[in-house]
Amino acid sequence: MPSFRAPRGTRDLLPAERSAFARLESIASDLATRYGYRAIETPLFEQSAVFERGIGEVTDVVEKELFRVAPRTEEAETWALRPEATAGIVRAYLQHGMHVLPPPVKLHLSGPMFRYDRPQAGRYRQFWQWDVEAIGDGGPAIDAEIVELGARFYREAGLPDVEILLNSIGDPVCRPAYIDTLRAHFQSAADRLPPTERQRLASNPLRLLDSKDPAMADLIATAPRLVDHLCGPCDEHFASVRRHLDGLGVGYRVEPALVRGLDYYTRTAFEFYRRGAEGQQQALGGGGRYDGLVELLGGRPTPGMGFALGLDRVVLALEALGASGAQEPASLVVVVGADPAATLERLRIATLLRADGLHARADLAVRKLGRQLESASRDGAHFAVIVGDELATGDVQLRDLAAGTQRPIPVVDLARELKRAAASHHHGAAGRG
Ligand code: HAM
Repeated sequence: MPSFRAPRGTRDLLPAERSAFARLESIASDLATRYGYRAIETPLFEQSAVFERGIGEVTDVVEKELFRVAPRTEEAETWALRPEATAGIVRAYLQHGMHVLPPPVKLHLSGPMFRYDRPQAGRYRQFWQWDVEAIGDGGPAIDAEIVELGARFYREAGLPDVEILLNSIGDPVCRPAYIDTLRAHFQSAADRLPPTERQRLASNPLRLLDSKDPAMADLIATAPRLVDHLCGPCDEHFASVRRHLDGLGVGYRVEPALVRGLDYYTRTAFEFYRRGAEGQQQALGGGGRYDGLVELLGGRPTPGMGFALGLDRVVLALEALGASGAQEPASLVVVVGADPAATLERLRIATLLRADGLHARADLAVRKLGRQLESASRDGAHFAVIVGDELATGDVQLRDLAAGTQRPIPVVDLARELKRAAASHHHGAAGRG
């Protein structure tokens, strides 16, 4: 029994799963290039205040789920592992004066995020997001562009049936009056509220709308809806986002109870779900507009819009469909030898092939040729290169393991021939499929 395990809520991504993530990251970065987003990296931890101020003090993410880093010295500032990317990206945008760049500044990032939540299926303490942000454009066209980008990601990843839930959560002009109305609604049933919810009623009543407590379901269903209380400009913005989505042929469902778990949102809010899997902890991604965040973190008023997609949940959903998403490694050639002891010759030829871009393995075990060939077949190699006496005149044998045929070939022609064979094998396979 090993005595150490990965911390609760974290996972080792073993090679097959890591490869599924790599495939998603490569789809994401390819899409980012096509849509004009440039990659950025921010630290895995920030001053806690970046999250407290940015995401909001009265949110689950900050109140309960922030992984705080204990400072080693008295004078140290307090840090926290990033629970999401938006606040850190906006901090970097401000720190590096990106407001002088032509707007919108379009950035993307993929990497691990940390939330100290109770682990369960699809909910981890370390998880991966692909995050996309456009800072400096008040929309609504960019809102539609970003929602469409998210939807395209799932399609290209191979997940059909991803639904877009869309809402507008207003802005500082219309939200306060709505929150009063909402507070009055919940106040009328204050004695039925669970204790945390009663607290939230005073501090952040909007949060009550995404309460996970079953005792809240009825009250939430009958609550006044923000979409009915939008001010003129927010209402017009929301209508225009929908017109743009309609015009792009992007389907969505307006979901009036969608409020998102972070405080920085204004106006457009959206989430992605697999059809029929719309429970808590099942969102595949979400985002929205955050027109107040840049100012909250010390900049001039600047609108922003973005999303983050949960890559762990996409991998899980693909696995549930029987499509692991793991990438096929490039086809393998194994270099074997008639003389079991001649490992240097085998290694030298494998090194040549690798330098030429091929996926090659030298059999370095000192064992009979037959055993080396068996092992090459077991590894799924299509070809073996057999090194024998002909090497003295510059030749080796190229063996087609599936067909069981072989022929001599000059070492200098080997890489070209293997590439040609791999290409025709690939076309053949595609033709058959
Ligand atoms: P979020 O809704 O908190 O938004 O997270 C986005 C996605 O990350 C979720 O829909 C989910 O797929 C995934 N996720 C969140 N928590 C976990 C977890 N514990 N385990 C596994 N997956 C998880 C944000 O983070 C915002 N920063 C999105 C955004 C960007 N808004 C504007 N720009």
